[in-house]
Amino acid sequence: MKSSGGKTRKAKGAGPKGTAPNAAPYRQAATKPRPQFAKPAQAPDNDSRVKAPPRSEPVPKRVLTRRSGARPTEKTGLILETRPSDDYALLDSGNGLKLEQYGPYRIIRPEGQAIWLPAWNKAEWDKADAIFTGNTDEEGVGRWHFPQVPLGETWPMAYDGIPFFGRFTSFRHVGVFPEQGTHWSHMDTLIRNAKRPVKVLNLFGYTGVASLVAARAGAEVTHVDASKKAIVWARENQEMAGLSGKPVRWICEDAMKFVAREERRGSGYDIILLDPPAYGRGPNGEVWQLFDNLPDMVDLCRSILTPNPLGVVLTAYSIRASFFAIHELMRDAFTGLGGEVQSGELILRERSSGRALSTSLFSRWGAK
Ligand SMILES: C[S@@+](CC[C@H](N)C(=O)[O-])C[C@H]1O[C@@H](n2cnc3c(N)ncnc32)[C@H](O)[C@@H]1O
Repeated sequence: MKSSGGKTRKAKGAGPKGTAPNAAPYRQAATKPRPQFAKPAQAPDNDSRVKAPPRSEPVPKRVLTRRSGARPTEKTGLILETRPSDDYALLDSGNGLKLEQYGPYRIIRPEGQAIWLPAWNKAEWDKADAIFTGNTDEEGVGRWHFPQVPLGETWPMAYDGIPFFGRFTSFRHVGVFPEQGTHWSHMDTLIRNAKRPVKVLNLFGYTGVASLVAARAGAEVTHVDASKKAIVWARENQEMAGLSGKPVRWICEDAMKFVAREERRGSGYDIILLDPPAYGRGPNGEVWQLFDNLPDMVDLCRSILTPNPLGVVLTAYSIRASFFAIHELMRDAFTGLGGEVQSGELILRERSSGRALSTSLFSRWGAK
C-alpha cells in the first residue's frame, strides 16, 4: 500500500507503565496523523492472482464545462457518527493519542486532534494489546509494540456480521476506517431498497470492506485500487467473509485511468464510492493529487452513472479544506440530475466521555 523509506524515530507517546495517561511520557508528538496510502505496490507485492495493467499514457486533463439545469438540493453541516460497538469502539482519547478496540484487541495510536486529556485512568490505557509508535508524519513509518503478549500480524475483525482481517501495518493503519461504516450502511440500504440489479463501483477501495457490504446486499461490485497488496488483502477478506461466490471484480489500476476507460466504453454504475487519498500513486507511478484531480474524477463519475443512478459517496481525509469545498464541487457536478447533496464530517463517538473525534470530510449525492 505504501512504500517504506520514511525515517523511523522513537515516539514520545504511550509511556511506560506507572505513568498517568496525561503525564509527560504519554504525550505524543502527532503532527500529521491522517491516513495515507499514497505509494504504489512494493517489491513483495507480486501476488500472481493480481495482474497489473500494461503501461499506458496518462489520462489527459478534462475540459470541464458548467452543467445546465437545477443544482441538487443541499444539506450541509451533517455529522455522521460511528458509535462504539462490539466490532469497533473509540474507547478514549487524549494527549495526542487514541485508545481503540478493534475486535479482540485494544490499540493505542497517535491522534493529533486529541488535544484534550484522557477521560479514563492509566489502568485502562495499560490494558492496551498493541501500541503504535514512530514517525507520525503522513509518509512516516513506525512500529508496533505488544505490551501484553506478542501478537501475530493479522487478527479477525468484523463489520456488521462481515468478518475480515485486521493487520498491524507499518503505517499505523489496521485495514479499516470504522467511521466509513455509516456510508456502508447507507449504501446497503440503497442497494436493498432498489429491488433491481445494482452495479457498485468502489474506487480507492483499500481492503474491500465496502465492496463486501455491497456484494452481500446483492450488488455486482467493481473494486479498484492501485495497491496489489491491498487487493490481495481484500480478496482474502472476501474468502474469510464467505462471500467468494458473490460477483466482485478486483482491479489493480490507477483509479483515474480506470474511470476514463469506463467512460470510453460506455459502462455504467448505479452507486459509486470514492475515498481518495490526498496524494497517491497508481501501479505505474501515475500521480494522484486530490486538489488537482478531484474535479475531473467527480465529473467522470457523473459521466459513468447509469440512467437511473442511486448515489455517489465521496470521502476526503488529510486535506486542508472545509467540507464546503467538496460539497460545492459535488453540487456543480450533479447539476441537472436532481437529487440532493449532503455534506459534513464523519466522526467517531468516544465511549469514555462521549467526545466527538473528527476523522474526515464527506459529500454524497443521492437521487431522491
Ligand atoms: C484511504 S485508503 C481507502 C480506504 C477505504 N476506502 C476504506 O474506507 O477502508 C486509499 C486507497 O487508495 C489507494 N490508492 C492510492 N492512489 C491510488 C490511485 N492512483 N489509484 C487507485 N488507488 C489508489 C491506496 O492503495 C489505498 O488503498
